[in-house]
Amino acid sequence: MSKLNQQVLKLLSKHEFISGQKMAEALSISRTAVWKAVQNLKEDGYTVKSVASKGYKLIGASNELNETLLTSMIKDSKLFSEVIYRDTVDSTQKIAFQKITDIKKPFIVVAGEQTGGRGRFNREWTSPEKSGLYMSAVFKPDIYLNEIIKFNLFLSLAIANAIEETFDLDAGIKWPNDIYIDGKKVCGFLTEVVSENNVIQNIICGIGINLYETEEITALETATSIENEMKKNGRMNSDTESFLTRLIHELEQQYHQFMNTPFSSIKEEWMAKSIIFGKEMRISEMNRTFLAKPVDITDEGFLLAVDRYGETHKIISADIEF
Ligand code: BTN
Repeated sequence: MSKLNQQVLKLLSKHEFISGQKMAEALSISRTAVWKAVQNLKEDGYTVKSVASKGYKLIGASNELNETLLTSMIKDSKLFSEVIYRDTVDSTQKIAFQKITDIKKPFIVVAGEQTGGRGRFNREWTSPEKSGLYMSAVFKPDIYLNEIIKFNLFLSLAIANAIEETFDLDAGIKWPNDIYIDGKKVCGFLTEVVSENNVIQNIICGIGINLYETEEITALETATSIENEMKKNGRMNSDTESFLTRLIHELEQQYHQFMNTPFSSIKEEWMAKSIIFGKEMRISEMNRTFLAKPVDITDEGFLLAVDRYGETHKIISADIEF
């Protein structure tokens, strides 16, 4: 959305009532331009009331995301420089990859729907409109390639914390890349990198969160949505705006921790949220599948799991199932 619309939105949110004339003067534009900007905001889903002799009043923020709103979410960010929003994309990962050379600082891509959303192992990630949050966050760390395993641990904590803090729901981390609520998957993320000579320049982290219930989610025994979990507690979903604001804040905080402290600094908190320890799991690595109980995680981020013969396995990357 245009800069002018952003400025008008800012004025509206600062005042209980503000007249078209005042906004026109503040922004050195005509009253017609103000009126047009207000119409644009309404089209974006904002509720703006106009009251005779008082002026305009912003009643409700849009529950739909748009570039103006997203840009205002990172205005105080020390990390993210830019947000790109598209109503429809193939995949936010694709857009992020296309922009990594042009945009020199960390940035975020969000979409209303994805037509070619993908998950880990190139699985399809169904992404219809008005049902999920589809986002790619790009970080520019300059770290060694082997650090990426640790990055995932910090990232999973950021997402789990954002869900808990916003919705007051118990979010559990299922190593390596899922977030669960009450035994079902509510979020998955994937981490891709661009590296040279063993050094990572860009981490492109794609996050998909089921915010609203869809037929597909209901049909899946293993998946849930924030809406569904809130309803179980007799509560209503869901403030997408507060959630995304919180998520961006948590991503920023955990990324800072990741860059400056070892995993041991968050290990206790991470273990407390993890849902896989002490249970027998089916662990599928690249070329073998076996049953074992995860017992610990090393400072480098390797999972340690003990099989029924007492043998300990050190796992770097795997798909694990209950
Ligand atoms: C998984 O559980 O397999 C990870 C799913 C990641 C999905 C997100 S949605 C936003 C971003 N764009 C994509 O195409 N995929 C990720």
